[in-house]
Amino acid sequence: MNTITIDPKSESSSYKVVVGKNLLSTIHDLIDLKSYSKILIVTDTNLESHNWLKKILIELGSLPIYSIVIPAGENHKNLESLSLIWQKLTNNKFDRKSLIINMGGGVIGDMGGMAAASYQRGIDFVQIPTTLLSMVDASVGGKLAIDFGGLKNNLGFFKQPKMVIADIDFLTTLPNREFLSGFAEIIKHGLIHSKEHFEELQTSGGAISKPIEDSADTIDKYSSSSIQSLAIQSIEYKKPSDLQDQELIDLILHSINVKADIVTEDPQEKGIRKVLNFGHTLGHAFETISLNSTTPILHGEAISLGIICEAYLSYLIGLISIIEFGEIHETIKELQLLHSLSDFEWANNQFFNDKVKNIIQGDKKSEFGKIKWSLLEGIGKGVCDIEISEYELVQEAVDFLKGD
Ligand SMILES: NC(=O)c1ccc[n+]([C@@H]2O[C@H](COP(=O)([O-])OP(=O)(O)OC[C@H]3O[C@@H](n4cnc5c(N)ncnc54)[C@H](O)[C@@H]3O)[C@@H](O)[C@H]2O)c1
Ligand SMILES: [Zn+2]
Repeated sequence: MNTITIDPKSESSSYKVVVGKNLLSTIHDLIDLKSYSKILIVTDTNLESHNWLKKILIELGSLPIYSIVIPAGENHKNLESLSLIWQKLTNNKFDRKSLIINMGGGVIGDMGGMAAASYQRGIDFVQIPTTLLSMVDASVGGKLAIDFGGLKNNLGFFKQPKMVIADIDFLTTLPNREFLSGFAEIIKHGLIHSKEHFEELQTSGGAISKPIEDSADTIDKYSSSSIQSLAIQSIEYKKPSDLQDQELIDLILHSINVKADIVTEDPQEKGIRKVLNFGHTLGHAFETISLNSTTPILHGEAISLGIICEAYLSYLIGLISIIEFGEIHETIKELQLLHSLSDFEWANNQFFNDKVKNIIQGDKKSEFGKIKWSLLEGIGKGVCDIEISEYELVQEAVDFLKGD
């Protein structure tokens, strides 16, 4: 079992994130459950059908436990579902000494957290993230939200959980597409804060360590120099599906460490925390447009597309080199994350470019109508609050994804 302590500056609430295997069976040792008057488990229909609700209820035993099962999926992260949780708490006379345990992906964590943060002006909650994405990202940092008025995460609070328990056993039932999409946030964490973490996904550990002779004929894609091209081609990657338990636990821990470093420094996103939005301005636009189509993409998939575009934008405005961009692009492709818009009918629609522009102008990161970009200054170094006056550059970055 591995533990990280998060102690957000200027907030009284420090809490532990525990990462490991078979943690549900030790839940009594991890949380002082007897100190709570009542406990509500918030989960979704997929976790219920994989018997995770049954398992946690057995582990919790004879405590005063209630549960609520919300229909799975982003389109249920809304006021209606939140109302159901509030209603359950009210009907069962939950008091201020009660606890909510959110067992699910980012949807359940964000929404159950919001119920806890608002019920009787705030009760304790514990996050048990069950997707890779929510383990490394959503469950840590105390951002809670629901979607409203057609906008993602439009209503929400900041409130830190009492504890986060990330048990990799949950990943055994997670669909592969969901598992892979979690790697987008891992890559993001490496890119904005830790080159070592980014390179953990490479078996050869570094861009120029292992040149491969026969790649000379392959590209002139990222640069006119074939030597530079060789460097990009030489990296070998770990296949996410081949990771051993300990490798996965280490990767999750390192990724959480990045997020912990950033949210400790800036819990309320007044400054440096904005770097976590790298890949998300355009990523959210793609996600939003796809959700209104017959081929919706997952949050992590949208973010891998957003990372490519925003890394390309960083290159276009001179913040990173073409070689660094090439390494990022290759990593996303090699890990089999989504890296092209060409197959999606919603992206080939004549209104697509206007829709993207419209959505990013209304983005939460805009201030006084100006888009504030979180970009890269290098691999392992994010920057925030960048303004780009020529929209043509943004368009060029989006077009890059169509040509690939
Ligand atoms: N608060 C934050 O800081 C933050 C950060 C990143 C993302 N988010 C939010 O998180 C959400 C995305 O999170 P997500 O990708 O976890 O989505 P999700 O909660 O919708 O889970 C993805 C799917 O996997 C299913 N599932 C979850 N765990 C499972 C398991 N162990 N076995 C089988 N099926 C399982 C769910 O039912 C769902 O269908 C978005 O709403 C996003 O806005 C929040
Ligand atoms: Zn995200």
